[in-house]
Amino acid sequence: MIIEPVVKGVVARSAHPFGCQQAIRNQINYVRTADPVTDGPKKVLVLGASSGFGLASRISLAFGGSMADTIGISFERGPSEKGVGTAGWYNNIFFREEAEKAGLIGKNFIGDAFSPQMRQQVIEYIKTEFGGQLDLVVYSLATGVRPNPETGELWRSSIKTMGEPVTGPTINIETDTMEQMTIGTATPEEVEDTEKVMGGEDWASWIDILSDAGVLATGCKTVAYSYVGPKATYPIYHQGTLGRAKAHLHATADQLNNKMSEMGGEAYVSVCKALVTKASVFIPAFSPYILALFKVMKDKGVHEGCIEQMQRLYAQRLYGKDKIVPVDDNRLIRVDDWELEEDIQQQVSELMVKITPENFTTMGDYQGYKTDFMQLNGFDLEGVDYQADISFETLTQLVA
Ligand code: NAD
Ligand code: NA
Repeated sequence: MIIEPVVKGVVARSAHPFGCQQAIRNQINYVRTADPVTDGPKKVLVLGASSGFGLASRISLAFGGSMADTIGISFERGPSEKGVGTAGWYNNIFFREEAEKAGLIGKNFIGDAFSPQMRQQVIEYIKTEFGGQLDLVVYSLATGVRPNPETGELWRSSIKTMGEPVTGPTINIETDTMEQMTIGTATPEEVEDTEKVMGGEDWASWIDILSDAGVLATGCKTVAYSYVGPKATYPIYHQGTLGRAKAHLHATADQLNNKMSEMGGEAYVSVCKALVTKASVFIPAFSPYILALFKVMKDKGVHEGCIEQMQRLYAQRLYGKDKIVPVDDNRLIRVDDWELEEDIQQQVSELMVKITPENFTTMGDYQGYKTDFMQLNGFDLEGVDYQADISFETLTQLVA
């Protein structure tokens, strides 16, 4: 079969396995020549390792100087009668292959990171085959649902405001159109449920259980990712349900830091730049901001993707040269610093008001936005033979 892109709204319904392989290789090539991570961790667990920031973290830590063995947990689907499977499925496979070529472990666990069984399997593996202890735990899950560990009932996150409803344009990648949509006001229950899904509770639970099992090394660090953004997007993000959940995540970092400091460890949240990922394209009214931001940052030569962000985080912040992790007044690591620079934001605001449904494909960086989205799914990459006839057997023979 010839694998073609299929997009429904903002969801990719197909992925190109060898495009994903190329994307992994491109990221590896980038970190190999970038400012390296020195004195970095050697044994790393990444929750949410198959795409976006988690995958970039894993690549940075394995190939960007630290040469870490990694365990990656993710929720992905392989080839079946339903289709070729998800991009993340192939990212896991080709990451592992590249890691093994470099003499590193790249162990993949595919399944629900929220489940007790997953915790037990991973701990067992760390003890029996991974050398017994971790130096770093990266928490990079992004999801819309989490089961209540007590009842199994599902909490669902909502992307809503906590004040007045907000109307703003959103992009439909399938039709290349910009459509108005309104984000309603969350009920108290929706606020709480979003915090359950995207707040820090599950992160803390993982750290507790790993610590109780004795698999956190002295000096072990942990990091989770957040977004804050400029004032212009506060009503939809920072002061909405997602922002509230992130506030919980930030508070969790402080609690975990107290706990982990007893064994010389540290816990942080890193605030990252707005980027196109499988998760972020869902955030309504956010796309005009990203279109303007990409355009301005590219014009200024300071644009970064996930891999550049993560390499900078690990090389210059978490394992930076002066050994003390630089943080802001709220003890947050800021790799969104370039995004938030005053002159960048000034130009972004000026551009955002000019972006309309009629002109967004040229006024903002829609080309870049769409290319990023396609590349997340293994399409539009240079050097890939998209006319290749790929058999189903070829795909089922690839193992995680
Ligand atoms: P993503 O969708 O690319 O990655 C999410 C990962 O979580 C995938 O590996 C997926 O398989 C995994 N996952 C989801 N549910 C799971 C489950 N039940 N069990 C196991 N694995 C599961 O998302 P992303 O944008 O890279 O987001 C990662 C983090 O970065 C989030 O905390 C997000 O808020 C944060 N962040 C994102 C942006 C952005 O613009 N994209 C900016 C700043 C911070
Ligand atoms: Na260093």
